[in-house]
Amino acid sequence: MIIDIRLEEPSDVAAIERLTRKAFLDAPHTSHTEQFIIAELRKAGRLTISLVAVDAGDGGRLEPLSAPGCSGRSIVGHVALSPVTLSDGSDRWYGLGPIAVLPRCQGQGVGSRLVERALAELRGIGAAGCVVLGEPGFYGRFGFKAEPSLVLPDVPAEYFQAIAFEGAIPVGTVAYDAAFDA
Ligand SMILES: CC(C)(COP(=O)(O)OP(=O)(O)OC[C@H]1O[C@@H](n2cnc3c(N)ncnc32)[C@H](O)[C@@H]1OP(=O)(O)O)[C@@H](O)C(=O)NCCC(=O)NCCS
Repeated sequence: MIIDIRLEEPSDVAAIERLTRKAFLDAPHTSHTEQFIIAELRKAGRLTISLVAVDAGDGGRLEPLSAPGCSGRSIVGHVALSPVTLSDGSDRWYGLGPIAVLPRCQGQGVGSRLVERALAELRGIGAAGCVVLGEPGFYGRFGFKAEPSLVLPDVPAEYFQAIAFEGAIPVGTVAYDAAFDA
């Protein structure tokens, strides 16, 4: 299988909604509202970057991945990036997530490719940094780290991680977009 990562197109919206619902169905930490969050971000014009991972079959352009059972030209993964607000006034910070890979295609590098590309896209638009709420065992490999100075209220500190593309890690609290209450 060959995975192509590209920006969301209007015709991808239903597939993104489906795959997000399926991926989070049995996930350990979930509100089961992730598909609504993505829809609300899109509606509010706050879905800064939305990337899909497409199983491009043998005709794809990017490097091959071994992923038996994921064949066909379909969307198998997605990641959303949206602006976050920092209490110290730092600007150009973004939140990564929700991120989801179809259950049958997990554990084969698709999620990693999405995170790597998401961070590259953020650097490309001049972002100052990115935060994520999730498993340190997964996000740590991309440079995310829990930072004592940067806090997301009401979550265990070790799960809230940040990466700065420029300057120091800000000091303060972080608020995700209102769409995350969807
Ligand atoms: C999390 C998710 C996006 C990762 O996608 P993926 O395609 O399975 O990830 P990869 O194959 O690139 O995994 C890379 C590595 O991270 C590890 N990993 C994946 N998910 C992990 C998790 N939740 N916790 C710890 N490690 C994890 C994999 O075991 C793999 O390790 P290895 O390289 O040592 O074998 C995917 O599993 C998913 O959609 N899960 C359900 C939805 C979810 O929980 N989203 C994230 C919310 S924070």
